[in-house]
Amino acid sequence: MKKTKVALAGSGFISHIHMESYLRFVHEAEVVAVYSRNKENAANFAKQYNIPTCYDDYGKMIKESGCEVVDICLPNFLHHKATLMAAEQGKHIILEKPFCVTLQEADEMIAACKEAGVLLMYAEELAFAPKYERVRNLVTKENAIGKVYMLKNGEKHSGPHSDWFYDVSQSGGGALMDLGCHAIAWMRWVLGGNPKIKSVSATMQSIYHYERSKAEDNSVVVIEFENDVIGVAEDSWARHGGMDDKIEIYGDKGVVYSDLFQGNSSLTYSVDGYGYVAEKAGESKGWSFTMFEEVFNQGYPHELIHFIDCVRNGTKPLVTGEDGRAVLEVIYAAYESAGTGKKVYLPFNSDVEVPIDLWLRQGIKRKIATL
Ligand SMILES: NC(=O)c1ccc[n+]([C@@H]2O[C@H](COP(=O)([O-])OP(=O)(O)OC[C@H]3O[C@@H](n4cnc5c(N)ncnc54)[C@H](O)[C@@H]3O)[C@@H](O)[C@H]2O)c1
Repeated sequence: MKKTKVALAGSGFISHIHMESYLRFVHEAEVVAVYSRNKENAANFAKQYNIPTCYDDYGKMIKESGCEVVDICLPNFLHHKATLMAAEQGKHIILEKPFCVTLQEADEMIAACKEAGVLLMYAEELAFAPKYERVRNLVTKENAIGKVYMLKNGEKHSGPHSDWFYDVSQSGGGALMDLGCHAIAWMRWVLGGNPKIKSVSATMQSIYHYERSKAEDNSVVVIEFENDVIGVAEDSWARHGGMDDKIEIYGDKGVVYSDLFQGNSSLTYSVDGYGYVAEKAGESKGWSFTMFEEVFNQGYPHELIHFIDCVRNGTKPLVTGEDGRAVLEVIYAAYESAGTGKKVYLPFNSDVEVPIDLWLRQGIKRKIATL
């Protein structure tokens, strides 16, 4: 069987997760090249995973590696340029979240991929996480809870691992941009893929990373969907105790709760502590939740298997560039709402440099007083 050739852009946190997924689960793909701006990191990453070639020049990798697919695992502010360059060379693209930094970039990326006739998938793994997919099927296919009137997602931890996340000129925003994008994409996915959104209201705080970043590190967003369904996204970089991702769906005939991390784990008590607990969990002494098959449970392999299948069969990805843009539009509206204190009606656009400017430009007091 001829395998689909993938070039991986980036050698950081999420690149390792994608590599584990490719090697263990995506048998119809082979990663033929890796790019890192640091030559040594590229070489070390290639050695670790037996990747035949490595590059410290992204353009060269796309042109010379013989790849059919580029898997973009670079910081947010590079998504736009990396996508345009890959599309120009006729490569299919799978792109990590958030889609990009601005709506203008999003429009250019979608247009470039259309013009080049390449597939563009927005890598939203919550649409593939097995536990959440079971819940979506319960609700949408098995009618387990009747008519949905409210759904919630919360993703929380104590803050990202790399400096660029905290620099809003590179990330575009804080916890909402980084984690809230999952909530918005997941809600859209449960509600059929492209539900109409009427309005967005939000409030935000900067509590834990106040000194380090202008970004919000705690946010609550309320979305009014068509048919009066309410969506609530709670996203935080200020919550200690390791990665937390939970959903709740309420219907007129029932309710379903699902916990992606702690609900999948073994409850452990350790006097001396031990090795790995879970993503961003920190301390392992005392009580902890020991994750297993973390990459699998979050849906990364299923997402990559799906995209490779789309490339091989020329079919449309389940999550597209348009979905990535729609998520970003809600993020814009949420920053605007948190800044102005008003409900924002969609469609909404603005020519700000980065989405969080919509909040910051109101000059509101970011630090919250503690009791
Ligand atoms: N799907 C998810 O849940 C999930 C989880 C983590 C990260 N991500 C996304 O993946 C992307 C990468 O995040 P990460 O956690 O791997 O970050 P990271 O900091 O761990 O790795 C980033 C990579 O990009 C490189 N890089 C940084 N600045 C660069 C620059 N100026 N020029 C060229 N290369 C540069 C770094 O050297 C590194 O290889 C981000 O868009 C992030 O939002 C998604």
